[in-house]
Amino acid sequence: MELTIEDVRAASEIVRRHLPPTPMWSYPVLDATAGATVLVKHENTQPTGAFKVRGGLVLIAALGGRPTVTYSTGNHAQSMAYASHIAGAACTVVMPAGAHPAKAAAVAAWGAEVILTGATLADAEAHATEVAASTGAQLVSPGDTPSLIAGVGTLYLEILEARPDLDAIVVPVGSGSGAAAATIVSRALSPDCAVLGVQSAASPAAHDAWRAGTPATRPSRTRVEGLATGRSFDLTQRYLRASLTDFLLVTDEQIADAQRLLATRAHTLAEGAGAAPLAAVLTHPDRFAGKEVAVVCTGGNASAGELALLSHPPTR
Ligand SMILES: Cc1ncc(COP(=O)(O)O)c(C=O)c1O
Repeated sequence: MELTIEDVRAASEIVRRHLPPTPMWSYPVLDATAGATVLVKHENTQPTGAFKVRGGLVLIAALGGRPTVTYSTGNHAQSMAYASHIAGAACTVVMPAGAHPAKAAAVAAWGAEVILTGATLADAEAHATEVAASTGAQLVSPGDTPSLIAGVGTLYLEILEARPDLDAIVVPVGSGSGAAAATIVSRALSPDCAVLGVQSAASPAAHDAWRAGTPATRPSRTRVEGLATGRSFDLTQRYLRASLTDFLLVTDEQIADAQRLLATRAHTLAEGAGAAPLAAVLTHPDRFAGKEVAVVCTGGNASAGELALLSHPPTR
């Protein structure tokens, strides 16, 4: 069954019980640098520091207290832990052993059980599948789960209800849940608004799958953990194939440059994934010149190591 704008509106009623709309501002000095009107949607101000919390609230409400097990590089994990905490439901999160320690600590602090194992998200997924089989907990895919997509769609409802006249929205893509949701909302509310995905060229599975029209697995060498999925997700790709306007790639260095600009021109702490949309606008100036563009700052959970790299970039 296809998700529609009505599913996103229903999700919005659940999200609104817990979270106010996030701000969306433009900053003249940032606009001057970009040559476009850039509206930054501040999902970094969520209580978990990232947009994923919207999906977790909607999914956990739908499951009515059933225990869950999921796998994540970080922000989906915090979302599931936060929503389970609110609902009083048990939640287990499997993360790769090298996951950002602050994110793992935040997940545990919301009361979820954290299992750190394996080198990649694929290893974490395999372990989570075993846990689900042995405990009976509901296995939750961070990408191929309709209520998560409907939940994160509420942020695009906020954007387009405030600014139905936007020329474009640029969305960072890992599993593609946010970008899929953006296409559902924009096609219903503002069909002329372009929706562009962006991924790191060092982890291009979703991008390559979208271009080829077939599932893809790719090496995941990006430093940007929210975008480091390594494989495409079938459900989200279906929506992207139907309605995504274009899919851009940027380098990790271009993402770091955009993080610095958000910090210095927009008072904003963005993790790499949250700065990827601005990186796309800055590296494709012809495409966005003079336009009004929303860039979704999806998260602000930058690690200490990531912040250190921003202040002391490696010589190129
Ligand atoms: C901050 C941030 N931005 C973007 C993404 C990518 O979102 P999606 O998996 O919905 O494509 C993630 C995924 O974890 C994230 O944490």
